[in-house]
Amino acid sequence: MPNSQLHEQLDHVAFDELPDRAVFKERVLRTAIAKGLLDDRQLIAGFIDVDGVSRTITELKAAFPDHFAHTFAAKANAMTGSLAIVRDRGLGCEVASAGELQQALRVGFPPESIVYDEPAKTRQVLQFVIDKGVSFNIDNFQEFERVEEILGENEARSRIGFRINPQVGSGKISAMSTATDTSKFGVALSDPGNRERLVGLYCTRSWLTSMHTHIGSQGCSLDLMIHGIRKVVDLVLEINTAVGRRQISVIDIGGGLPVNFDCEVVTPTFAEYSAALRAAVPELFSGEFAVKTEFGRSIYAKNGFIAARVEYTKESGGRRIAIAHAGAQTATRTAFVPDLWTIRLSVFDSSGRARNGVAIEQDVAGPCCFAGDMLAYKRPLPLIEPGDYVMLHDTGAYYFSNPFYYNNLPPIAVIGAAEDTGRVSLDVWRRQQSLDDMLAVIG
Ligand SMILES: Cc1ncc(COP(=O)(O)O)c(C=O)c1O
Repeated sequence: MPNSQLHEQLDHVAFDELPDRAVFKERVLRTAIAKGLLDDRQLIAGFIDVDGVSRTITELKAAFPDHFAHTFAAKANAMTGSLAIVRDRGLGCEVASAGELQQALRVGFPPESIVYDEPAKTRQVLQFVIDKGVSFNIDNFQEFERVEEILGENEARSRIGFRINPQVGSGKISAMSTATDTSKFGVALSDPGNRERLVGLYCTRSWLTSMHTHIGSQGCSLDLMIHGIRKVVDLVLEINTAVGRRQISVIDIGGGLPVNFDCEVVTPTFAEYSAALRAAVPELFSGEFAVKTEFGRSIYAKNGFIAARVEYTKESGGRRIAIAHAGAQTATRTAFVPDLWTIRLSVFDSSGRARNGVAIEQDVAGPCCFAGDMLAYKRPLPLIEPGDYVMLHDTGAYYFSNPFYYNNLPPIAVIGAAEDTGRVSLDVWRRQQSLDDMLAVIG
């Protein structure tokens, strides 16, 4: 079918009663199906709402003063297309591995806009980031000694500081909480001797000019995050007083703004976080420090979704099950820790029209060959039929670029979606891998 005809058809559908974001997603899905980007061979795809990401970045920038330099945590969505939007909107990039660093450099982030946060930096990586002038955060005292050795007599072009663990406790998800008493990240601030040692090192090393913390990623309350940042800013003030000048001029407060996975409305917002932070840590807003952030999930999660075809439906011991093509290969956390990573699902017919029938409890299973490969248990949804699509909402962060190769399932295709004068345009960012390509990855 020619595109113009397709768009006309889509334009005739009355979507008015649905919220904007939901309308857009349905239009994207219908366009993708009509264009053959989803069918009985292309069984699953992820979608990014390109304008949505741009709007989110506008909200982020508006929420904080200009001396806040925002970097995007590449681990949330490291695809070229995703990073390019962020780069074009003037953000920097936070990376945590040699692979993410290469990707950021290839996408064209200037080295000085990148911050390197890997906890296990090798000598080679440190040499590379120092040579490039990429900023980085030292995780521990052994790493400090290595950095000092590499720097030798040379002046550092990189912005360098310690990552501090303010030990303020865990959020709701212990695996995502990085500021517990025993966290593997950073220098534990309250452990005996550490505070004094840090003050001593900053006082004697003028190249230590920044300080970093990241309290956790998802599941941390604003109060917990702000409590941790307050402690780190107190340490910065103590050091600068001890040095007698503003040696630490950059404070990196990490990312971690949590995302709600239960509805379209975004909560908490960047503006709410900023207001609470300003009240508790006014020094960050005075302009006396440059402040860096490293948001990931809050920039991409709600601007992406996955659509997967349903292959079969069946009943087993009174349990009604739909077997779809999205499971642990892309929704890994949801499959393995379903109670903590519950995602919203919707059902669409084979042409992409939303099913609005009476909700009945159904389990939605993935394609992988283990019993826990489930997207949802006893979820009230309109009756799912074979050939339908299930939509996994809010999956734009940490669901596309972190594939899990179980059963030799390939990373899912990803498509950038935009709307121009009422028409949906789709740009394939990553094709579905052929079996041969997939098997080459497996080795
Ligand atoms: C050091 C660091 N910064 C930023 C982030 C991004 O966190 P989020 O995606 O929750 O904003 C992470 C996530 O793990 C991180 O480890």
